Amino acid sequence: MERSNQKFLIVGGSSLRGTVKVNGSKNASLPILAGTLLCAGTVKIKDVPHLQDIKNMKDVLTYLGARVECDGKDITVDGSQVQSLEISEELMRRMRASNLVLGSLLARFGYVKMSYPGGCNIGSRPMNLHFKGLKAMGAVIREKFGYITAEAPSGLQGAEIHLDVPSVGATENLMMAAALAQGVTVIRNAAKEPEIEDLQKFLNSMGAKINGAGTDTIKIEGVSELRPTEHTVIPDRIEAGTYMVAAAITKSDITLTNVIPAHLDPLVAKLREAGVKVTVGEESVRVQGAGRPKAVDIKTMPYPGFPTDMQPQMMALLTLAEGTSVITETIFENRFKHVPELRRMGADIYLEGNTAVVRGVPSLSGAYVEASDLRAGAALVLAAMAAEDGTVLDGIEHIDRGYERIEKKYNALGARIIRVSS
Ligand code: EPZ
Repeated sequence: MERSNQKFLIVGGSSLRGTVKVNGSKNASLPILAGTLLCAGTVKIKDVPHLQDIKNMKDVLTYLGARVECDGKDITVDGSQVQSLEISEELMRRMRASNLVLGSLLARFGYVKMSYPGGCNIGSRPMNLHFKGLKAMGAVIREKFGYITAEAPSGLQGAEIHLDVPSVGATENLMMAAALAQGVTVIRNAAKEPEIEDLQKFLNSMGAKINGAGTDTIKIEGVSELRPTEHTVIPDRIEAGTYMVAAAITKSDITLTNVIPAHLDPLVAKLREAGVKVTVGEESVRVQGAGRPKAVDIKTMPYPGFPTDMQPQMMALLTLAEGTSVITETIFENRFKHVPELRRMGADIYLEGNTAVVRGVPSLSGAYVEASDLRAGAALVLAAMAAEDGTVLDGIEHIDRGYERIEKKYNALGARIIRVSS
């Protein structure tokens, strides 16, 4: 990722108040944008957030020869003119999710060449399960000199695939590959995230025959071609969750709109266990933080367990809890990069393997800290808003990948965040 010279100056101590509309989901938009390549026509995706990761995906589609047009939060993709089937290393290194075009391109054209995606610094993030499934469908996968070449000259065949772990990306790539395969594919131990269900809904609106998304078994009956469609992505449950923790850590009263409350269940349960008042409406959630949270234990799990993408944000909250919390990260092997930065702000955290023991302290102090990845950066914004004085947060290009002008939306609620170029 290219370093920007931008930083946030954050003055803590103010409480937030008001209502905020949650954006469309980054992690639903990325696979769905990749899925537009399955169709030789014009597809419109609506309510897509303006994020660096989305721009990266648009650059990949354009590089492949698709025509991509943006109108506000709507993106139109015409994949009829796709010629190149090779994705440059520069593009692949920018964002791991670029690998989500693998299934679509292989299914529609029978050939893809791409370099290994940039491994995030939250873990090695291999693609062995993506390849295992595609090989079961008849693809020939070669890995050499850091490049992946996938070929299926006579098309993909339906297959029975069992995923060793319920990988979100592997489930998504295999759904898209199977949509145009000959015959029926069954994915067992599939990921059950809401973004998988949204991808199924999008693909079926193009004429695919998929069912079971949201369960651990997804059945895909291949069809010969897919047709243009329009689709509005689901709300971003992680952006919503980050606001909810912001309300708790700054002892504020915030109402979120454009949410699907069921997608927030694991977080609502945890916040209530920590003594935070959460009121769930039809399409809104209100969070009223008051006083120090109680210590709670967290174990990240595949959906519908507690989401790994909310682990850093919850840790920021629990650094101020009454008591000691135990946080276990089971999804990624290196997702505690925010710990040394929180310690610089006065947090008392002890790491033992994939477990963090967080002893609550009465307050945090401002410091010079650095974001190392997207959600770690969000956690540091939350901690800085709760700290008693000023914080300088570096590495904010990580935050811009997944949060649209985070300072604008939080300042509208009463936060004091200034973006400066150094
Ligand atoms: C998706 O990443 C999300 N990204 C991540 O969100 C999220 O943290 C993750 O799912 C888990 O929920 C997008 O949707 C764009 P995985 P993905 O494949 O698909 C291992 C954010 O902050 N694995 O479910 O890459 C892998 O190493 C991002 O928005 C294999 O071993 O995650 C990891 O330990 C961060 N082999 C575990 O599975 C494989 O072939 C889960 O990874 C694939 C994955």
